[in-house]
Amino acid sequence: MDKIEILKADDFDTRLKSSLEDRFLPDYFLYLGCSGVDNWLSLYRSSEFTIAARLTSLLKGNIEKISRHFSGELDVVSIGVGGGEKEKSLLEELTRCCQPRYFAVDASSEMVDVALEAVSKMKIESTGIVALLEDLYLIHDYWNSNVLVCLLGNTLCNYEPDEVFRTVHLELEENDYFMFDCSLLPFSEVDGTPDIQSVIDSYRTGLNVTFNLNPLLCRGLCEDDCEFHLDVVRVEDKGGTAYRTAKWIEILKGSKVECGCDSIELPAGSIINMGFTYKFTPEQVARHLEVSGFEALEIFFSPEKTEMMVLARKVMEKET
Ligand SMILES: C[S@@+](CC[C@H](N)C(=O)[O-])C[C@H]1O[C@@H](n2cnc3c(N)ncnc32)[C@H](O)[C@@H]1O
Repeated sequence: MDKIEILKADDFDTRLKSSLEDRFLPDYFLYLGCSGVDNWLSLYRSSEFTIAARLTSLLKGNIEKISRHFSGELDVVSIGVGGGEKEKSLLEELTRCCQPRYFAVDASSEMVDVALEAVSKMKIESTGIVALLEDLYLIHDYWNSNVLVCLLGNTLCNYEPDEVFRTVHLELEENDYFMFDCSLLPFSEVDGTPDIQSVIDSYRTGLNVTFNLNPLLCRGLCEDDCEFHLDVVRVEDKGGTAYRTAKWIEILKGSKVECGCDSIELPAGSIINMGFTYKFTPEQVARHLEVSGFEALEIFFSPEKTEMMVLARKVMEKET
């Protein structure tokens, strides 16, 4: 099993310092290092955070229908692969109908190792790639068409929709596929309005707070000197009104954070903004797919319609 590092540990130290100078902590820092992996896997397996388990069940329940679309050679490229449980199940099913090669891609080198280990007993060619989704054009150098690009575990919702669909669209050719899942906006059973409180509750559990603070705590910030905040905000975009989480860390006491061999001082009162998660409706997902030049081949919903998974293909322009 090969491992390619498009990004190295030093690159992340430099990125951390410059992000913190801009008072921003990108979410991929949550998954770096052994503590990042342990914290994510604890959250992923926890009954406190059911979104992860429900998305995994959604994939596993529809894996046969998904694999019916494929035959022959297929490169499965999963970006933000995490522990790779979904991909392992998918690859097991795909080996019945085609010859898959596997590319486990993640910003976290340690996460890539976990994902590769998960398939180490399978007889398939597997490659780990440490890289960001934003660098998909560099990852593209390693795969051949036909490819199935996967963004699973609600990863798509951590990006501006226009941006993420465009990034993937640019790299796909005819007969290539794109599969992603989303945890959807919940609605109140009482009055049918968006159930914002349940979104806040699902992301503000004890494990989730630890997970979000860990990148700074493991680099020198004391837990008592900061506070984690989470809210849900309304944003207007092409698809109409959308909702997404907003997360930030408030520094209560001046602190120093180590960034590899370097460090940064964060004065009291600093606000460090973090990544977000969109909570779309199925209609918004359909609209974004259409305007971004994709056609949905399959759309699956969980029984409660709280999650959705889409297998899509690029709409090819007809020759005149
Ligand atoms: C929410 S977890 C999902 C993991 C897995 N796909 C699943 O379904 O359980 C997001 C994963 O994406 C990775 N990640 C976060 N930002 C990334 C980025 N910009 N590029 C590549 N990977 C990223 C994280 O390291 C983490 O493993």
